[in-house]
Amino acid sequence: MLVTSKELLLDAQKNGYAVGAFNTNNLEITHAIIRAAEAKKAPVLVQISAGALKYGGPDFLPMIVGKAAEKAKVPVAIHLDHGPDFATVMVALRTGFTSIMRDASKLPYEANVAEVRKVVEACHAVGVPVEAEIGKIGGAEEHVVVSEREALMSDPQECARFTEDGGFDFLAVAIGNAHGFYKGEPKLDFDRLVAIRNLVSVPLVLHGASGIPDFQITMAVERGIAKINIDTEVRHAMVTTMKAYMDAHPEEIDPRKIFKPAIEAMQAVVEHKIEIFKSAGRG
Ligand code: 13P
Repeated sequence: MLVTSKELLLDAQKNGYAVGAFNTNNLEITHAIIRAAEAKKAPVLVQISAGALKYGGPDFLPMIVGKAAEKAKVPVAIHLDHGPDFATVMVALRTGFTSIMRDASKLPYEANVAEVRKVVEACHAVGVPVEAEIGKIGGAEEHVVVSEREALMSDPQECARFTEDGGFDFLAVAIGNAHGFYKGEPKLDFDRLVAIRNLVSVPLVLHGASGIPDFQITMAVERGIAKINIDTEVRHAMVTTMKAYMDAHPEEIDPRKIFKPAIEAMQAVVEHKIEIFKSAGRG
């Protein structure tokens, strides 16, 4: 069933688990995410970035995800990932998203607040919750030394002020996480996470969770992360499985036969994440 993310994340925050937010670009990834959520009886967010919206078509991709959510046996929210501007947020509202992120974290503090407040006013008017970000969640490929890394992380006091000033529903934090696969083992700053959790009342979001070892995910969930974003690991499962299948069956030209093992591989990744997020059985 189609729901908003607010009810999902408030329940997760209250009961000490995290809801998985998995990125989709197409029908096959969407199937894999929803099948995994149903198999694990877990609530889930299917998220679409501005790039995916452009690739899939702003009318088509949300329609596929919306229909899948409506038919699902578990609660599903459709989330705009890293909304880059007000116009994209408007497109998302018009096409049935039930959860919005406005990412203005690259802007100076006051401008970030102003952008987020504008989106909050529009989204709340139609009952849609909003995620915002403070600090800078980089790409894993960025070469940054430790002191610079810390400067990019979310400051607990600023998180509290930002939440107050922004009036949004969920906060994405930068605690040593990065998008894409990590070079070496990531080290999340759990002291920082606890300090933020103690000062901020809204559910907290962890981006860039592909490649973070399971034990660190468990620690993050235990310290109050309520939404966890995964994209790269699902893409990796899809592409490597398709490549392997095509290598083994060079004559195959039926895309359905090539996609089948890829969908199963993606579903397995999502099911595993749902287990470590402790959201299995919560749907
Ligand atoms: P990964 O690609 O590292 O899983 O990050 C996904 C994400 O945070 C999307 O917002």
